Amino acid sequence: MNKNILVTGGAGFIGSHLVSQLLSEGGWNVSVVDNFNNFYSPECKRRNLEKHLSNERFSLREVDICDNESLKSVFRKGDFETVVHLAARAGVRPSLKKPRLYFETNVNGTLNLLDLSREFEIKQFVFGSSSSVYGARCDVPFSENDKVSEPISPYAATKISGELMCHTFSHLYDIRTICLRFFTVYGACQRPDLAIHKFARLISDDKPIPVFGDGKTGRDYTYIDDIIQGVRAAIDYDKTSHEVINLGESETTELQELISLLEDHLVKKAVIDRKPLQPGDVPQTFADISKARKLLNYDPKTKIGDGIRKFVDWFEAQ
Ligand SMILES: NC(=O)c1ccc[n+]([C@@H]2O[C@H](COP(=O)([O-])OP(=O)(O)OC[C@H]3O[C@@H](n4cnc5c(N)ncnc54)[C@H](O)[C@@H]3O)[C@@H](O)[C@H]2O)c1
Repeated sequence: MNKNILVTGGAGFIGSHLVSQLLSEGGWNVSVVDNFNNFYSPECKRRNLEKHLSNERFSLREVDICDNESLKSVFRKGDFETVVHLAARAGVRPSLKKPRLYFETNVNGTLNLLDLSREFEIKQFVFGSSSSVYGARCDVPFSENDKVSEPISPYAATKISGELMCHTFSHLYDIRTICLRFFTVYGACQRPDLAIHKFARLISDDKPIPVFGDGKTGRDYTYIDDIIQGVRAAIDYDKTSHEVINLGESETTELQELISLLEDHLVKKAVIDRKPLQPGDVPQTFADISKARKLLNYDPKTKIGDGIRKFVDWFEAQ
């Protein structure tokens, strides 16, 4: 018998990769909730799911997670065992301009999903959190035991709120909640606002790339296949009732190095437009992934050089 799973934000970058993984495995009826908002091209999100539309084990509901009544009808029909909640207003910088929109979607929307999960007796709730919860810290690597009470962007604050609500719901009700802190994810279909995709587009169009700061800021870039391996394991995890787990590559790459890798693979020189550091941006990220290794058997395999090559292959095929 197939198991029923709901993936919110399933038309987005990470969500659509997860949907493909679950459908290719078999054994799942996959329902997606997504509102196809225009944070970036809705056509691009539709393309992400196009190949599944004729699959009888797939269903798509165009619903806003802030619309509790419509969401409730999805739960009523779905008979879900598991919810993977990835729908969100993503991105740090835009959250400074629209904090209310971020709170509405990421906090109230998450509360709607948790409360319906309680009402419909969902067993497992996997939440897409973010490395941004660690704030502007210089001591690395970032561990799940570190305090995360000093977010420096509205986006990060919404993700901490989501994690806290997950804890509360698992404590009060019989819902296992697993919060996965993703560290900058990249790969095919990456969001166009994220540095790797944005830079690749600008470099190949011979346009200047905006580089904030001196190029020494560092990110733990995680290849999409590795993230999906971690999310997939979290769906099966059944040991404890609540966990917060980092999913990164556990290696920091400086921005300057990232640009060089893109130049090498695109075989083009970047024109740098240097700008001051942006408020809300953290200086570096670096995941301690020992907990993920232990609890999820997580074993990221894609080094940044290989990952950028694969990304550029995809980018050039578009
Ligand atoms: N990509 C990363 O590097 C990264 C890093 C850390 C955390 N995350 C988190 O992972 C999740 C997925 O990120 P992504 O990069 O795939 O982003 P994405 O924007 O590609 O996907 C999010 C999806 O959610 C949908 N959505 C947004 N608001 C909605 C609403 N109100 N109702 C229904 N659907 C809505 C969007 O239309 C989109 O398809 C997000 O929660 C994000 O915060 C991503």
